[in-house]
Amino acid sequence: MEKYFFTYEDIHKTSLDISRRVKASGFEPDVIVAIGSGGFIPARIMRTFLCKPILAVGVAYYDADDKACELPRKVQWIEEAEKKLAGKRILLVDEVDDSRVTLEYCIHELLRHQPSEIAVAVLHNKLKAKKASIPSEVKRYFAGREIEDRWVCYPWDALDIDAHMASAALAEAGS
Ligand code: G4P
Ligand code: MG
Repeated sequence: MEKYFFTYEDIHKTSLDISRRVKASGFEPDVIVAIGSGGFIPARIMRTFLCKPILAVGVAYYDADDKACELPRKVQWIEEAEKKLAGKRILLVDEVDDSRVTLEYCIHELLRHQPSEIAVAVLHNKLKAKKASIPSEVKRYFAGREIEDRWVCYPWDALDIDAHMASAALAEAGS
């Protein structure tokens, strides 16, 4: 099955588009929470347009012995800063909404700290049956692009960025 190849430029433009839509919706976040590691780069680009501080969280599907887990668990969390989330408007950022399990987990964890609102922004939402759901407390959800259920190759995963760019150009030409 065909993969998607997105370039840094694509990611930048999609992050700008999301930022514009966040602003147009009237939602002004106090803080951006980036889900690592895929959410780091889009969150940083959105910071350029939204001018808000970033907090980072990390979750993983494996335990300390590298054994696979059913559910995500925290590997890195906001700790001190999470006490400051009460009453704040959070924009939660990740690169891809795939199964939704990680997103649901992070939203539930953040809701425990009584933010006034959580909005979600992802670069890409895969149109597929999801294994988890966005809690009803989340009223705003921004997906940069709705995509088919295919594997996405992000530029930051590329071992050879020139080959990645060539694949992206080829896919672009074919579309
Ligand atoms: P979701 O809630 O955002 O849907 O995430 P889900 O738990 O389904 O995703 C598990 C991991 O798989 C995540 O990475 C996610 O980024 C990654 N993933 C899912 N689909 C794709 C894809 O098409 N391309 C790429 N490159 N990654 C995908 P993670 O374990 O959080 O690791 P990290 O890479 O973000 O550090
Ligand atoms: Mg991720």
